[in-house]
Amino acid sequence: MKNSKGGKRGSVSSGFFQNSQMIIVAGFLLLVFSPVLSCAQESQGRVRGSLPQTEISSPPAGTPLFLAQKSSAEKALFSHPAIQEGEPCVSAKCHAERGTASYVHTPVAQGSCVSCHDLTASKARFGLKKPDLDLCLSCHEDQKAFYKQEVIHPPVKTDCISCHNPHESPYKFQLESGPSSARLCFTCHDEEDKMEYTYLHGPVESEDCLACHNPHASSYKHLVRQGPQEIQLCESCHQEIPKKIENSAHKHGVINKGLCSPCHAFHGSNLTKHWTRRFPDKFYNPYDPKLYSLCFQCHEKRQAFLSRSTTLTNFRNGKRNLHYLHVTRKKGRTCIACHGVHATNQERLIRSSTPFGPSHFHIRIVFVKTPTGGTCTLSCHVAKGYDREKPLKLQADTKPTIKWKKPK
Ligand code: HEC
Ligand code: HEC
Ligand code: HEC
Ligand code: HEC
Ligand code: HEC
Ligand code: HEC
Ligand code: HEC
Ligand code: HEC
Ligand code: HEC
Repeated sequence: MKNSKGGKRGSVSSGFFQNSQMIIVAGFLLLVFSPVLSCAQESQGRVRGSLPQTEISSPPAGTPLFLAQKSSAEKALFSHPAIQEGEPCVSAKCHAERGTASYVHTPVAQGSCVSCHDLTASKARFGLKKPDLDLCLSCHEDQKAFYKQEVIHPPVKTDCISCHNPHESPYKFQLESGPSSARLCFTCHDEEDKMEYTYLHGPVESEDCLACHNPHASSYKHLVRQGPQEIQLCESCHQEIPKKIENSAHKHGVINKGLCSPCHAFHGSNLTKHWTRRFPDKFYNPYDPKLYSLCFQCHEKRQAFLSRSTTLTNFRNGKRNLHYLHVTRKKGRTCIACHGVHATNQERLIRSSTPFGPSHFHIRIVFVKTPTGGTCTLSCHVAKGYDREKPLKLQADTKPTIKWKKPK
């Protein structure tokens, strides 16, 4: 995993790894320069790498001190300048910019800085009352439920502030980056990995990673929102195909296992319909086995390109391979001329109609399987049969008597 975009974000906690590095750097600077966060400097910029390095001047004599200065010898991680009792944390003079962003964390909006910062603490980073996770979870009890789930997003195990600004941000939920969820994700995940495709999946194109992933934790692998089967995730947006699958008598072996990923990539791909491997878009294609590599990752290639066989396929007349006859030729038909890849109501995944011609009219297909062969009636040619044991005489195509059926 690269952190390609993280480096550009200087002022707030950046990427996951960078965050911890910056903490170390910031801590080191604090130790070396024993600085104090003076109000004026703090409001000029919140670049952690450039924390103020000024010496502390002694408070005027007689000022009631809320906080005594630590000597630099004590190696304090935190020391706050003197403030008057009852003086507000946010004023024109101090921390003036706090609470001005569009989304302000409730305790910050309420001016309750001390719910998280202890100005007398010297051993804690920024005087924080509790370390990373404990601080947030002390109020957000509900979020402890993350840790009971099966899959926890690794950054959530260490802290919340790699994604949420503890104070405020221009983005909802005080997120560190936005406006789309992808902008946040790509502060740590490699954008090229997820976005560099010719065909992006709808929600990836609209940069909505949260449509499928939970940012914190999930009961399912890869932090997906629905499961355990892939089809359940897809169903949340594509009702049509899962419904068709459910209502069909015959389902593809892969679909029976609830899987879509052998054929479709979830984020996107360089192939249409986000296929994982090549498959033709057209009805007729000059035969090239590579064109069907989507299917041949599981099925036997020779099933389609050996002209004669007694074992490779049941779609044969005697020894004559009828897959070869239809597919392996200059004007070869695509598999989905005959098969419905997801599910169908006829045996052997034979579809009930096939789109044909330039306007994609649907021609009806009636397939009847026999113990040793089958017959296939298309509305454009008479019934044709094949028999593996007693080969039938194959007629040439009769002149089509096309009965167009309106597409649905
Ligand atoms: C919900 C807890 C919380 C509250 C409330 C809170 N802070 Fe913080 N603050 C933090 C955390 C956590 C950090 C460390 C941030 C980091 O490591 O990036 C921090 C860091 C800081 C810093 C140093 C780094 C920076 O971001 O500038 C200042 C200054 C600061 N807070 C001021 C305030 C003031 C002023 C208030 C009240 C208006 C306030 N904080 C309220 C949690 C809080
Ligand atoms: C002192 C108590 C307190 C602490 C500590 C605290 N929060 Fe909050 N936080 C709140 C309150 C109160 C709200 C508003 C609750 C609501 O609207 O449901 C809130 C809201 C939020 C929200 C927005 C939730 C929403 O539905 O809009 C986020 C995100 C959040 N806090 C993250 C954090 C993180 C990260 C930390 C640790 C740095 C943290 N909180 C520490 C009290 C706290
Ligand atoms: C990897 C980034 C990331 C980390 C780490 C993270 N969050 Fe979030 N959090 C998000 C995103 C993104 C959302 C917005 C969710 C949405 O829009 O549905 C969110 C939303 C929230 C919300 C408001 C919505 C809700 O789910 O109730 C709260 C509260 C919250 N987070 C608390 C926390 C706490 C507490 C931690 C640390 C234990 C934490 N988050 C760690 C990314 C993160
Ligand atoms: C602060 C850094 C950080 C941010 C921001 C972040 N991630 Fe991650 N994420 C990680 C790390 C670290 C891992 C574990 C290493 C890996 O799988 O690359 C991880 C792993 C994952 C995994 C794989 C989990 C698994 O069990 O297979 C998914 C999915 C994921 N992140 C999605 C997201 C999404 C979606 C977002 C934006 C909402 C996001 N991440 C934002 C750091 C981050
Ligand atoms: C349509 C649903 C969907 C969307 C939208 C989506 N993902 Fe995924 N993502 C998945 C699924 C499912 C997996 C499981 C891995 C697999 O089988 O490819 C996954 C895996 C991951 C992983 C872990 C494996 C890997 O590839 O490194 C990361 C990280 C990740 N997604 C990040 C993102 C980010 C970032 C976005 C937004 C740009 C995003 N995802 C959008 C469904 C989605
Ligand atoms: C958050 C909603 C959402 C989820 C979840 C989702 N998709 Fe999509 N999907 C879309 C959108 C939007 C499009 C683009 C519009 C369209 O072509 O329908 C799309 C397009 C597609 C396409 C391309 C259609 C074409 O004709 O080019 C395929 C294939 C696809 N999705 C498969 C899946 C699979 C498999 C899953 C489950 C892992 C899934 N989708 C989950 C929203 C979603
Ligand atoms: C064996 C490979 C394979 C599997 C598994 C598979 N698909 Fe497909 N899918 C295809 C092919 C091939 C097409 C193109 C078919 C067509 O145009 O009729 C397609 C088309 C699609 C389309 C676009 C439909 C359209 O009308 O343009 C969507 C959406 C889709 N599949 C979703 C899914 C979902 C959801 C799953 C998992 C339940 C899934 N697919 C499983 C091969 C597969
Ligand atoms: C990930 C592996 C995989 C991929 C990819 C795959 N199939 Fe299948 N296919 C199977 C399995 C498993 C079966 C069930 C075998 C069985 O029942 O003996 C099957 C069965 C079939 C059947 C026979 C159905 C029946 O009822 O006997 C047809 C037809 C079929 N696949 C066509 C295709 C086509 C066309 C493609 C490419 C678009 C394809 N398959 C891609 C695994 C796959
Ligand atoms: C002209 C229509 C047609 C075309 C085109 C076609 N098939 Fe078939 N296929 C059939 C028929 C009919 C059967 C059923 C044979 C039987 O069981 O009697 C079948 C059976 C299958 C089977 C089950 C095992 C077997 O061979 O008996 C698989 C797998 C299969 N086809 C895959 C494919 C693939 C992959 C393609 C594309 C390369 C394809 N088919 C193209 C008609 C076709």
